Amino acid sequence: MAFVSNDEINSIRAKADIVSVIGSYLPLTQRGKNYLGVCPFHDDHSPSMSVSGEKQIYKCFSCGATGNVFTFVQDYENVSFIEAVKIVADKCGMKLSVDTFNSAPQIFKEEHEIMDLAQKFYLNNLRTDSGKDALKYLKERGLNEDIIKEFGIGLSLDTNDSLYSLLSKKGYDKKRLLDVGLINESNDKVYDMFSRRITFPLWDKEGNIVGFSARIYRGEKDVSKYMNSRESKLFKKGETLYNYHKAKDAAKREKQIIVVEGFMDAIRVSSVGIKNVVALQGTAMTQEQINLLKKLRVKVILCLDNDNAGEIATVNNGEELEKNNIETYVIRLSGEKDPDEYIIANGAEAFKENVLEPITFFEFKMNYLKQNKDLSNVTDLTTYINDVLKDLANNDDAILRELTLKKISEEYDISLDILKSKLDDLAPVVVKEKKEEVKREIVKKDSYIIGSEKVLYFMMNGEEYIREYQKKLGFFSDSLYREIANEIVYFLENNKKITVADFITYVNDKDSIKGKVMEIVNDSANDEVTMEAMDEYILALLKVMTKNEIKRLKELMKKELDVDKKMKLAAQIAELKKEEV
Ligand code: CTP
Ligand code: MN
Repeated sequence: MAFVSNDEINSIRAKADIVSVIGSYLPLTQRGKNYLGVCPFHDDHSPSMSVSGEKQIYKCFSCGATGNVFTFVQDYENVSFIEAVKIVADKCGMKLSVDTFNSAPQIFKEEHEIMDLAQKFYLNNLRTDSGKDALKYLKERGLNEDIIKEFGIGLSLDTNDSLYSLLSKKGYDKKRLLDVGLINESNDKVYDMFSRRITFPLWDKEGNIVGFSARIYRGEKDVSKYMNSRESKLFKKGETLYNYHKAKDAAKREKQIIVVEGFMDAIRVSSVGIKNVVALQGTAMTQEQINLLKKLRVKVILCLDNDNAGEIATVNNGEELEKNNIETYVIRLSGEKDPDEYIIANGAEAFKENVLEPITFFEFKMNYLKQNKDLSNVTDLTTYINDVLKDLANNDDAILRELTLKKISEEYDISLDILKSKLDDLAPVVVKEKKEEVKREIVKKDSYIIGSEKVLYFMMNGEEYIREYQKKLGFFSDSLYREIANEIVYFLENNKKITVADFITYVNDKDSIKGKVMEIVNDSANDEVTMEAMDEYILALLKVMTKNEIKRLKELMKKELDVDKKMKLAAQIAELKKEEV
C-alpha cells in the first residue's frame, strides 16, 4: 500500500487551518478566541461545536465529539483516515507524495494477505468439480452468478487441512494462521477451521476480509448451520456490520439504511437492487455497531425477522438507536420469517413497497404495547395508556407528545387535561433520574481522576509539560493513564515536539486509548495551559496518592503479625504523613 509518513501527515495538519476546513462544511461564527457551529455529529439545534484555531481542534459540548482536522473530515465524509488526509491536503492546495490509497492498516499487512489467499482458495474451490453441489445449492436458493461473485461466496473443501497445507507451503507459519482463525489445533493435529461448507467472507468497515462465516449445504444433521470465525485481532464480531463497506455510499445517497438480522437477508435485499442494507449477524446491536450507523447520519430502518426474537430485538435495538439520537423506523414483514424468505415468496416489488412505508419506531412501540391486550377491557386499556404515557415521558419531542396525547384522547374518549397532567406527573421523575445520573457521573470523577486527566492533557501541549511530569510525578497507578502517558512520551521522542492536534492523529488507530484521550481533550480543550496550573494538579495528585498509600500500608499493618515488620510499616506511614503536610 501507499505509505504516507507521519512527518508528512503532521506537516499537512500544521499547514491546514481547521477553522477554514470545518468552515467549508458548515457555517462557523466567531465567539472570542473560538468559533462556534452546529455539530454535524448529533441532532444539534443550537450550535454546540467549538473550533479552536489556536489549538487546531474541535469539541462538541453536547455529544462529546472531539478531534483534529483529519478526524473531522474522516467522520464527516465517513472515509478512512488516509482518505481524510488526502481530502484535507486537496482542500489546502497541497499534494501528497503518493496518491494511490489502500486503507489497509500497515500493521496487519500479512494477516490481510493470508485472508486474501484463503478467499482466493475458497473462490476457486467453488469452481472445481468439488463445487458442483454447492453451486447447485446456491442456484436453488436463487443466488445467481452475479450475486455469488459480488459477495465473494466460495467453498471450503471436504478435507481436513487443505487450506492449512496450501498456506504453510506458501510459508505462513502456524501461529499466524491460528491467530487469524483460519485453522484449529487439537492434540497436536491441525485442522482447517472451515470444512465442507459454503464460505461467505466478512469484511471490516474498510472492506478488508477479516473473517468468514460458513454454511452447510447438504442438510447435515447435528452440526450447526453456520460456523463463524472466532474473534481475532482482525475480526471483532461486535464491531462488524455485514456489508457496511458496500452499503455506506448507497445509504448516504438514499439517506437511510436498512438493518436486517442475517447476512443471507442482506444478500437477498441487495440482490433486488436495494444496496443500502447491512446485517447484524444476530439480534442484539452493540454500541460499536450503533456508532458505525451513527457515522452515516441517516435514518435507520430496522427490518428484523418476523418472529418473537426479532420483535423483542426491534424494541431493544430501537431504544438504543434513539438514545443515540438516530432517527429510527421499523418494517415488520408479514408471513415469512425473514426478508430473504419474504422476497422469495412475495417478490422484490412487495418488499420495496415496505421499504417505502416504514413506520416510526414510536408507532411500532405503540402497536407493540397494544399486543395481547383487549382494549375494550378497562383494565387492559388503562395499562396500555399508562404504558404509552411512560414512554412519552421519555421522549423529548414536544410535537410528538402533543399529537399522541390528542390521538389517545380522541380514540378512547379521555379528557386531554387528564392525560396531560398524568404525563406531567411522570415527566419530572424521568428528568430527575437523568439529572441524578449526570451528578453521579460528576461525583465519580474524583480528584485522582480529574488530576490525572488534567496532567495528561497538559502533557499533550508541549515538551515542557512532559518534562515536568517526569520530574515531579513519573508515573500513574492507573494502567490506562499509564498507557496514555507512555504514548505521549513516546510520541515526543519520535517527533521532537508535541501538540494536542498531532497527538490526536497519532491515537487515531489506537483503540485501547483513543476513547479516553478524546474524552480528556474534550473536557479540557478550553483550559488555560500554564505551568502553575500543571503544578497544582500534580500537587493534588501527589496528595491523593500519598493518602492512598497510607491507607494501603495501614491495611498491611493490620494484617501483619510479625512485630518487626509491623514497626517498619508504622515508620513508613509516619514518614508519609510528614510528606502529606
Ligand atoms: N447465525 C450463526 N450461527 C447459527 C445461526 C445463525 O452465526 N447457527 C447468525 C448468522 O450470522 C446468520 C444470522 O445469525 O446470518 C441469522 O440467523 P438465521 O436467521 O438462522 O439465518 P438465516 O439468515 O435465515 O440463514 P439461512 O436463510 O441460510 O437459513
Ligand atoms: Mn433465512
